[in-house]
Amino acid sequence: MSPDGFAFIAGLVKARSGLVLTPDKQYMLDTRLGPILKREGLASLDALALKLREPRALALAEAVTEALTTNESSFFRDGKPFEHLKRLLPALAAARPPGATLRVWSAACSTGQEAYSIAMLVQELGAETAGRKVEILGTDISQEVLSRAREGFYTQFEVQRGLPAKLMVKYLHQEAGRWRVNPPLRAMARFEHLNLLADFRHLGRFDVIFCRNVLIYFDTPTKTRVLNALAERLAADGVLYLGGAETVLGLTDQLIALPAERGAYERRQAVAKAG
Ligand SMILES: C[S@@+](CC[C@H](N)C(=O)[O-])C[C@H]1O[C@@H](n2cnc3c(N)ncnc32)[C@H](O)[C@@H]1O
Repeated sequence: MSPDGFAFIAGLVKARSGLVLTPDKQYMLDTRLGPILKREGLASLDALALKLREPRALALAEAVTEALTTNESSFFRDGKPFEHLKRLLPALAAARPPGATLRVWSAACSTGQEAYSIAMLVQELGAETAGRKVEILGTDISQEVLSRAREGFYTQFEVQRGLPAKLMVKYLHQEAGRWRVNPPLRAMARFEHLNLLADFRHLGRFDVIFCRNVLIYFDTPTKTRVLNALAERLAADGVLYLGGAETVLGLTDQLIALPAERGAYERRQAVAKAG
């Protein structure tokens, strides 16, 4: 592929999603865009870059962007955030008036394992959430992963990664050769399309935000912009969880790390009061 063609596709994907493609990622374009070339009857990535320059190539640009997202996820990924959430939710429930709803957002939810892990944890907490309703919203830029999340089907390999057998048989069943999340658990989570680069103030405030393993793909200004927008959506006593390789250090002062809790952040109080 020519440097010009690569630069055009990388620029388009960055503008649409924030994902940074450095020249060493050329192999990713070769492998991930192959099916699109075939479907469009295009001979090469340069031909695709040319087609993407057409003003009416919006659907194609969307498909290319989606194909270049990395959707790796697993149930109870990294363990620690979920252990912390297990202690946090009862405390938040106690701090809210009866009848209040606790709002949890899995931003960049991929195929839904994060949202369903949270739903299982809420179910397991039972009375410890003092009857407060828990709303779980999963969002992602990729329509394909969102439809997988809504359907709630997982392979044997996917359920074996991180999902304790006890929870697997309690909250999933076997259907059409795969494991499927049971309807009551599916009903606890809602999945919607959302680009983290867009204005998401309409979503309202959240008590808990999981935004894990997506900022790593963005450049510094984009990380800062997204972190500040997430901080603004967080309740004064809420918690934001980031991925193991992600931090707010050097990116924003709107969020501060919880002492001795890696990857868990709260809003700076002065900011919370002003918001
Ligand atoms: C590696 S997965 C992380 C899934 C889950 N949070 C976890 O930690 O297991 C990253 C997800 O971010 C999504 N993503 C990438 N850019 C995005 C953007 N600008 N807005 C929303 N989601 C985005 C991708 O589609 C992908 O599903």
